[in-house]
Formats: sequence, structure tokens, C-alpha cells
Amino acid sequence: MTDHLNRRSVLASAVAVAAATATVGEAQAKTVDVKIDANNLSPEMKKKHAVRFPKLDDEGRLNFSEGIRRWQLADKEGKAAVAGRQAYLESTGHSLGETKLSHEEAWNVLMQYPPYAARTRIEWANHDLMYENMFSHLHKNRDMYLAAMDATDKAGPGKLELNPDMALPEYTTHEIHRMPGGYVGDPFAGFAYHWTLTEAYYGGSSRYDELHTRMAQACRVPATGDVNRILDIGCSAGMSTTAFKERFPDAEVWGIDVAGPMVRYAHHRSAKMRLGCNFAQRLAEDSKFPDNHFDVVFDFLLTHEVTIAAAKKIASEMFRVMRPGAVWMHNDLPREDNPKAGLGHTIEGKAHVWNTHRHNYEPWYFRYAQDDFPGMLKAAGFDVQVDNDPRGGFIAAVYATKPV
Ligand SMILES: C[S@@+](CC[C@H](N)C(=O)[O-])C[C@H]1O[C@@H](n2cnc3c(N)ncnc32)[C@H](O)[C@@H]1O
Repeated sequence: MTDHLNRRSVLASAVAVAAATATVGEAQAKTVDVKIDANNLSPEMKKKHAVRFPKLDDEGRLNFSEGIRRWQLADKEGKAAVAGRQAYLESTGHSLGETKLSHEEAWNVLMQYPPYAARTRIEWANHDLMYENMFSHLHKNRDMYLAAMDATDKAGPGKLELNPDMALPEYTTHEIHRMPGGYVGDPFAGFAYHWTLTEAYYGGSSRYDELHTRMAQACRVPATGDVNRILDIGCSAGMSTTAFKERFPDAEVWGIDVAGPMVRYAHHRSAKMRLGCNFAQRLAEDSKFPDNHFDVVFDFLLTHEVTIAAAKKIASEMFRVMRPGAVWMHNDLPREDNPKAGLGHTIEGKAHVWNTHRHNYEPWYFRYAQDDFPGMLKAAGFDVQVDNDPRGGFIAAVYATKPV
């Protein structure tokens, strides 16, 4: 898979549009806070957030992957499937409870059970098919999509800053999620990331960015109530960035990401939605923003994709750019110390961590799952509150507040 990475240097020129220098606007005096019900979106919201392909057959190919994904998510948790795994484990002298096996050994035990092995192999074959169909569509229509981004790059609304000469840390150049080219290597990575999530990977549960809208709506605000500047780090396609701008339309909202193709697409999408979010290709650990600048910081699924050293730097950098009293809502995969997730102790939990790490190709997740990110936030100076599994799902929300 790594041979795709060479495309980064070849394609870098395609994303090297003129960089618009970031300037910081005046703080707004009053916070407007718009309530949106993500479970009952209006027709206008659905139209604004919908992904539409030029031809239905391309959309249909992703819908096929969505169907497989839905089956897989339902089957994994289904009573019959759980009972089947339990019976198999007991028949081999194991149990659903605590184990001393290593993560890899736990995965190997379950892979001897044909239904688990079949579901796992179908999962990855479907995943690869999803990207194959997506990138094939995007590259067949490359002129159209490049022209569409060209048109919004400079027109806005909202600024775009690309830094094609930026040195990319090695850890950001992997093909995470088995996505060809990774986040940084294909000019259409942003389209591919957003459209595959929306049309397939979320199994239809976030077709109109409901997941991101829900998180942005739930985010707590500083005790003073004023929210004038918001930063979304590792924003990818900008789904949470736009969700924050929809909630706080008067705020200056920034999304930053190391990947040029991501922020370029994010800006294109936000501009088409007429939202005016600002995007910049920058590192979360070196964000270039002034001290004490932001009222709210948000991240979703960033920290498990960086090294532990980078995670520590990100914690310190956010402490620097947040004003006293500012709030950081951090959301990521559960760690093994999350009592509700049960990942570190059982055969199923350990196999899940190993499967995600090795087969969804998450090079940094294994260490992250065993490390203590809230502890890093405390060490950086924050007051920290951990709300494990606020949605009853796989996300662990943590609030870090900069003391006044
Ligand atoms: C799983 S995606 C994040 C998903 C996104 N926040 C969302 O709402 O769907 C991780 C993103 O973090 C970006 N990233 C990784 N390391 C980074 C860093 N050090 N600074 C900024 N962005 C980074 C990647 O390029 C990728 O777009």
C-alpha cells in the first residue's frame, strides 16, 4: 500500500494554489447560538448537507458498500452473533471475560472462528472496494472536480490557506484507514473522505452530517458565555467546522489540518454552503495562532492518529492559543482505561483494538489506546473532565478548560 504515497510529491503541484494569508478578524460582541435538532433536520438543512454525485450509478456503488457495512455493524452486536462467539470461545477453553492473551493472540483466537473471520475479511474487502469505486469516480472526473475547487479557492466565502511547501511529519503520511494516498497524498482525499463516510462508512447514520451537528450542538461554552473564535483541529473535510459555524454564525471559525487536500475540499464545501468558515493547512502542534485567541477548541478522531509525542505537543499548543476560561471538547476513540468500553481485558476487546490497529491501518491507535490523553491535558495545565461514552457509542468526550 505504501507505493501510493509517492503520489504525494507528484500531485503536490495540483493542490498548490495561491495561499491566502490568514488574518484575524475583530471579535464579535455578542454570541448568537442557534439550536439545531440533528435528529429532525429541516428539508433546507438536508439539501445543504447532502452529497450528490453527478450520476446515480456512482452513488449506487457506494450504497452497495453502505449495505454491507450496515449488515456488519448490526451483525457484530446481534444477540445470535454474540452467543455464537461465546459458545465458540467456551468450546476452545476461553471465555468472554478477562484474558491474559496479548492483543494479537486474542485476534488470532477469534479469527479461527469462521463467522468472525468471514465478517472481518468481508469488512476489509468492502472497505477497499469503497475506496476503489470512490477514487475511480473522482479521477475519471478530475478536471471537473479540480475546476470546482479552483472556483471556490479564492472566491470564498471564508479564507483558504494552503502551504504546499510545508514539511509534513512522517507520522502524517501513512495510508490510515487503508485510504489510497492517505490524507495528504491524493488531491481528492477530501472528497473521498467525506463522501465515503457519508455514503457508506457510517452505514447511512450521518448522511447529512448529523453526527458532527450533534457534537457541535452538545459542546459546552465558556462560563462567560461568549464564543467569538472557534478552532477545529484535524478538521479533515470540515464537517464539524461547518456544524460549529451553523451553531455560532457570528463567530470566526477556523478548521486546520495537516493535509492540503482536506482543507481545500473543506473550504470548497463550506463556501458552497455559503457558511464562510476559514481553513488552513497547518499542524495542530504548531498552529501559528496568537496566544489566548480561541474561546472554543474542538477535535474529533485526531489524537489516535498522531504519535504520543505529537499528542503532548498538541495539548501544550492548545493551552497556548486558548484564552483563560476557554473550553476544548475532545472526542476520540475509547482508550483501554475506559470502563464502559472494556477494550483492554477481554478477548473481544483486545481483538477489536488489534483489528483496528493492524487492519483498519491505524498505526498510532495501539499506543493511544493504552496511553492517558486526559493526563497529558492535565500536564499541559488544563482542568479536565472525562465524560466517557456520552452517546453510548464509541466516542469518549473529554472537556479541558483553561483555568482563569
Ligand atoms: C480521522 S481524521 C479526523 C476527522 C475529522 N475531525 C472529522 O470530523 O471527521 C484525522 C485528521 O487529522 C489530520 N491530522 C493528522 N495529524 C495532524 C496534525 N498533527 N495536525 C493537524 N491535522 C492532523 C489528518 O490529516 C486527518 O484529516
